[in-house]
Amino acid sequence: MTDRSPEPGSLELGVNIDHVATLRQARYPGMLDAHNTEPDILAAAAACTRAGAHGITVHLRADRRHIQDADVFRLRHSVRARLNLEMGNTPEILAIALELRPDEVCLVPENRREITTEGGLAVAGHEAELRDTVARLRAAGIRVSMFIEPEREQIDASAALGAEMVELHTGAFANAVGAARDAQLKRITNAAKHAHEAGLQVNAGHGINYENIALIRSVPHLRDLNIGHSIVSRAVFSGLEAAVREMLARMAGA
Ligand code: PXP
Repeated sequence: MTDRSPEPGSLELGVNIDHVATLRQARYPGMLDAHNTEPDILAAAAACTRAGAHGITVHLRADRRHIQDADVFRLRHSVRARLNLEMGNTPEILAIALELRPDEVCLVPENRREITTEGGLAVAGHEAELRDTVARLRAAGIRVSMFIEPEREQIDASAALGAEMVELHTGAFANAVGAARDAQLKRITNAAKHAHEAGLQVNAGHGINYENIALIRSVPHLRDLNIGHSIVSRAVFSGLEAAVREMLARMAGA
């Protein structure tokens, strides 16, 4: 097994820009090409990469509540950084992914009534539904990640299906306080060790912000962090480039 454990301080940032599209859709649904449509998703991606982000992450949801089909194809043509497509395991979105050929796909659970992705993907017990999707994405040269709860059985099932990466869901950690937060951090740490031993690249995401990054960066073996809401929120005050630079600095321990 090759050791793909990152050097300390070498965490990489994928900025999830879904909420830039949320803002656009609040005013201009169905008007992607109108002359006054803003904010511009390509300009947002460019600002993130100028600031040093290693990747751009978008979630093309079945209900198209924020990112639209045209967005992902435009991003594919203009973004030089890694493009990570988050998607539910449906034939419709799989067909788009295979045409789009993002660098990476992260398979996520999707529920129309949720405000954001609530839990991890149930990989264990659902191998039959996922096997063909993982195989087709990999055959197209797309690296595959599974967005899972930090649990051994989900990690083992992801590795057995041929995923190269897992993204550990940090939402429960982000919402917890005090001893409960310590326990969640321990849970993520144990899962990261286990995933690394299973030969998987270990990523994390959901609810990571400018404060809890100090704890998240202590988790061993982490490579990519996918962060959206806190960066876009800060950008309202500081601008997107500054918000990305500030997160990168905190990821590096500043
Ligand atoms: N990673 C995954 C798989 C997600 O679904 C999300 C939310 O869309 C994120 C990361 C980013 O979470 P947040 O917006 O809370 O930073």
